[in-house]
Order: sequence, then structure tokens, then C-alpha cells
Amino acid sequence: MAGNWKMYKTPAETTAFFERFRPLVERSEHCEVVICPPFTGLAAAVQAAAGTRIRIGAQNLFWAREGAYTGEVSAPMIRAAGCSHVIIGHSERRQYFGETDESVLKKTVSALEAGLTPIVCVGERLEEREAGKTEAVLAGQFRGGIAGLGPQQFAAIVMAYEPVWAIGTGKTATPEIAADAHRAIRGEVRAKFGAGAAAAVRILYGGSVKPDNVKNLMAQPEIDGVLVGGASLDPASFATIVNF
Ligand code: 13P
Repeated sequence: MAGNWKMYKTPAETTAFFERFRPLVERSEHCEVVICPPFTGLAAAVQAAAGTRIRIGAQNLFWAREGAYTGEVSAPMIRAAGCSHVIIGHSERRQYFGETDESVLKKTVSALEAGLTPIVCVGERLEEREAGKTEAVLAGQFRGGIAGLGPQQFAAIVMAYEPVWAIGTGKTATPEIAADAHRAIRGEVRAKFGAGAAAAVRILYGGSVKPDNVKNLMAQPEIDGVLVGGASLDPASFATIVNF
């Protein structure tokens, strides 16, 4: 159960969140809990989550280890900051910051080399769904990106299906629509990495997940977890999702 805070919360707000969130998920041993604040909040989050099962992730990285790349942050730096996870290829990065399937692959490899667990996002836009192209888009994102990983590398990643039309819109995919897309992604994984990898890979659903719809989504065997934006900003609401 992962929270993507996007560009929200200062370090002080991060500390305040954890003060309320920690006791609410203290006994939640049925799942992994990951929170991904902006870079400037990582130190506060790592400190506030110390001694708990809550893990901290970043929302992006640059694939070089270090160098003259003004404004960028590398995988080893994120690891050294105390993070265990990193989101890669979120649709907002694809849409506003020029992320491509090729850059997603490079970033995923660099995250793995640094010992981070990448949460790699795929998902179709509304016009692609309406044109009946959902499966082709998901296949294209997979084949042009993380299909380039080796089998051992692939075994170490988490995937997230985030239909762009469901992000921040209040329009959740129905559990059936999400499960169909997860099946299509798993089909791609099976074709490239085999049945074992397809059964083992965790695929999170993201897009307007809220306390009142998480149960029905998680009831789908195809859905292994959720990647939550807006509803992860409030401690009580994200704790309700974690404890669905
Ligand atoms: P919302 O939950 O706000 O729709 O955002 C989903 C998302 O993009 C998570 O990465």
C-alpha cells in the first residue's frame, strides 16, 4: 500500500503526518506500507518512520550515479537518504517532464543497482481507452521499457497500473476494468519473463483510490495493492486504506 504525495507537504507537515499516522498502522502487518514524499521531505519522513515498518520512497530519480546534471537526484543518493523505494514513470512525469519508456528503463536499472525497489507505472490516457487501444498502449509501454530488464532484475520490481483518466479525477476504474488491465499486463509479463514471473509480480492499482472503494478493488485477486495520491495526504484516510 503506497502513498504518492506528489508535490505536497513541507518537512514540518511531513513530521506532523507521521505523528498521527504511525499509531494508526502500528499493527498493520498484513502488507508493506510505503510513503513517497517530495525530495525535500525525505529526511523528515525517514526520521519519523524510523523503528516502524513504514518504508519511504522517492518519486523520481536520474539514472546517472553523479555528475553535472543540475537539479537532478541519483539512485545512490536516494538510497543513502534512507529510502527503500522509488516511483518511476508516473504519468505526470511522462506528461509534463518528457519521461519515455526508454528513460523509464534506464531509471529502473539504476534504481535496482542502488538497491532500491522501483515502482514502475504504466497506464493509458482517456482517448486511448476510448479508441479501444488500452491493451496496445500497456503492451507498448511494457515492451518499450521494462521488458528490457533481465529476469532477475524484473523479479525485484513492483508495477503499478494507473489509468491516466482516473488520476485525481475522482473517477476510479471499476474493479473489473482495473483487473482486466492487470491481466493484460500480466500477459505481457508472462510472454517475456514466463509464468512464474507473471504470477509473482506485484501490480498495484492507482487512480482515485479512497477509503470507500479500496475494499472492492483489493477484492480482485489481480490487484495486489494500491498506489494512492490525494487520499494518502491525510493520515486517517490513508490508514483506513492500509487497514482495508
Ligand atoms: P489520486 O489517488 O490522487 O487519483 O492519484 C493517483 C496517483 O497518481 C498515484 O500515483
